[in-house]
Amino acid sequence: MTRHRVAIVGAGIGAEHLTGFLANSERFDVAVICDLDASRAEPLVQQARAKGSSTAYANDLDAVLSDSSVDIIDICLPPQLHKQTILNALTCNKHVVCEKPLVASLAEIDEVAEMLNSSDRLLMPVFQYRFGNGMGALLDLIKAGLAGKPLVATVETHWNRLSDYYHVPWRGKWATELGGAVVGHAIHNHDLLCRVFGPVASVQADLATRVNPIETEDCGSLLYRMSSGALVTSSVTLGGAVDHSRLRFCFEHLTAESGLEPYNPGTAPWQFQARGPQETLGDAQAVIDETVAAHVLHVEGYARQFERLGEALDGTAALPVTLADARASLELITAIYQADATGARVTLPLLADAPGYGNWTV
Ligand SMILES: NC(=O)c1ccc[n+]([C@@H]2O[C@H](COP(=O)([O-])OP(=O)(O)OC[C@H]3O[C@@H](n4cnc5c(N)ncnc54)[C@H](O)[C@@H]3O)[C@@H](O)[C@H]2O)c1
Repeated sequence: MTRHRVAIVGAGIGAEHLTGFLANSERFDVAVICDLDASRAEPLVQQARAKGSSTAYANDLDAVLSDSSVDIIDICLPPQLHKQTILNALTCNKHVVCEKPLVASLAEIDEVAEMLNSSDRLLMPVFQYRFGNGMGALLDLIKAGLAGKPLVATVETHWNRLSDYYHVPWRGKWATELGGAVVGHAIHNHDLLCRVFGPVASVQADLATRVNPIETEDCGSLLYRMSSGALVTSSVTLGGAVDHSRLRFCFEHLTAESGLEPYNPGTAPWQFQARGPQETLGDAQAVIDETVAAHVLHVEGYARQFERLGEALDGTAALPVTLADARASLELITAIYQADATGARVTLPLLADAPGYGNWTV
């Protein structure tokens, strides 16, 4: 097993990345915490050193990129900086991990794909909500054939963001956050939706700014028809009294519901209820119980995503989140903004001639 040297760039959510890498210290050595603001980076440097890493602080991203002893650049920067940092890191022959939203448009992600295809490096977008034990159990139940036809689902992203959240200057602005609640918040729950129900075929959307005086949307009401024919309602607000996420899926033979954990709705326990004639319900419940039990002990969140990254770097497993996954999430965002702007139902896939391909804000 190779031990990879990681530079975490950006010490906000980078703190949680650090915890995820430290949980996999046999695979990763956090060599650098890079942030323009030393007061944000220093506690992370100390935390990593306390765990035995030889971590250094850096404030010059270019110097980190050209440090040949670093082999992974983990981008936790504000969204508008992602694309150029990804391209620079690939140019410097680094593997890349990058937070959501990966880049600012489908055109940008296709540009990244072109460069990635001509390199031998790995790029892993972050979707750490995927790695929850409730989600894992549901995916296994589907694979085992217990769920049947997907029928309908509801997705709730009801979080609470007060005015202090927008004191961070890049938030709430098109140029820097690249969008509002659809881009910055509901993106994870929509990714989970597509993990379970497959690709989105068409979108209708109504967005509004109703909670805070910001440029971007903070409320949304979304309707999706999935490629399978399943129908989905997604409700988004940053004006919930508390932070809560919930996903509820009705299949022909199974109804599955997450808990309310806002930033890890995939975590166990989920409620699973079999549907069918009374005489078959006992057998179905036995499969559910066995599947849920098999998922109890898995590590979740960033720690699990980075463990899977380590396996991919060693060549023993596929990347757990791919550029195609990030593209699907940006395609959905593009369709949502297009549907909201026009009032029309927008059909996917969106190719290079689609409105919004170069910029979803127009
Ligand atoms: N996956 C998740 O659940 C999740 C949660 C929160 C944030 N995020 C994403 O993570 C990214 C960062 O968000 P955040 O909340 O941590 O932001 P933040 O503003 O708290 O932190 C970003 C840090 O980057 C630093 N920085 C900016 N430019 C820099 C440069 N050129 N060189 C070095 N450092 C620089 C800033 O000083 C700041 O400390 C965003 O894309 C956001 O959407 C993801």
